[in-house]
Amino acid sequence: MERVNVGLVGFGTVGGAFYRLMQANGGLFQSKFGVAAGITAVAEKDPGKVQAAFPGQKVVPDYRTLTADPSIAVIVELVGGTGVAYEVIRGALEAGKHVITANKALLALRGDELFTMARKRGVELRFEGAVCGAIPIIKVVRESLVANRVASILGIVNGTSNYILTRMSEGSLSFAEALGEAQAAGFAEADPTLDVGGGDSAHKISLLASFAFGGWIDYRELLVEGITGITAGEIEFASSAGFVFKLLASARWNEGRPAVTVFPALVPKDHPLSFVRGEMNAVMTRSDFMGPAVFIGKGAGGDPTASSVASDLGDLLLAIQATGRRDTARFDPARKLELFPRDQLEHRYFFHFITANRPGIWAAVTTRLADNGINIESVHQKWEDRSLPSDLYVLVDEAPEARARQALADICAAPGIDPHSRYYRILAE
Ligand code: HSE
Repeated sequence: MERVNVGLVGFGTVGGAFYRLMQANGGLFQSKFGVAAGITAVAEKDPGKVQAAFPGQKVVPDYRTLTADPSIAVIVELVGGTGVAYEVIRGALEAGKHVITANKALLALRGDELFTMARKRGVELRFEGAVCGAIPIIKVVRESLVANRVASILGIVNGTSNYILTRMSEGSLSFAEALGEAQAAGFAEADPTLDVGGGDSAHKISLLASFAFGGWIDYRELLVEGITGITAGEIEFASSAGFVFKLLASARWNEGRPAVTVFPALVPKDHPLSFVRGEMNAVMTRSDFMGPAVFIGKGAGGDPTASSVASDLGDLLLAIQATGRRDTARFDPARKLELFPRDQLEHRYFFHFITANRPGIWAAVTTRLADNGINIESVHQKWEDRSLPSDLYVLVDEAPEARARQALADICAAPGIDPHSRYYRILAE
């Protein structure tokens, strides 16, 4: 085959960037692989938008024109969302076309079905751009780690949240101001609650964990907490105690089962992930033969994601030329993996109690922590005016989730304690 025709569906931030990349660098496929690849047609519901920018480009309003075109071998789905995008991918796979997507929400929701369909049809469904933008982490998990047993994957996989936490801690911005900046820069999802609520990270880590551990992990079963409640005071205290806040997505092989979580955590300032700032993403893998490795890069935005979409296209050109398939993952989408019970996960914790300012409050807190078998490491209280509530920060030793949660509930029920008191986990590794 001398030329592979690509149909591009969707011309938003990533679709437009992928189009520009193909214009600027598409010739590299020919020089590197001896096969030309080019965008034959674009499907976009508003064709005028594309034609105005790129006169002469074939644009159709209906993606089915592309999936029905026998000259097109690869469909690149960059519509986003879980509605039309699902129809596009399913239609393309049914038509026997390879598919490239950057749609983490859709793959997390229906990947078991779509990957199974791709296998049955003998075509590839590739998704490097879906997880951590430019970072080739799917390639690492599927290919580089193929002969390793993966112990853990720990990552900062949402650029918007990392940007917000960085700006809150370094620029003293409020949460709302920092989110506004991330939206203006184009990192945030259309619905930013997916970013700040941890949902986007859950989509990504469930895909990484599925491929690392070889079976399907349903993102709806994960423990997921977001960053919306984090205050300037908490960030300041964490810093004085030697930590930075990061929204961590984690997948560990724990006593024969995957433990997969998303939550904001206190990361020690000397940990490699503490240095990951702004919209940058990073993933740290630990495995038996590769050992620890850290992968860092731009996790959001049109150009970085388009770069990963193009890398999938490069892999597909090799697959199309080769006699056999190149899918090296030991991944079975039909094998459902049962998660390690979240209540039994163990962490160190940072409790933040908002309390009345009167005698007996410390006793009420420390007694209930002790009643739940929780060992205190240090206590710090901050107050400026005795007529106002005070902030009581308590760092505690390792304990199972169930006990930390019970202790918090018991303490919040005590007189003089604000029920909005909370805890965060501390990264220990
Ligand atoms: N909203 C995502 C982020 C974009 O902020 O990381 C990339 O998935």
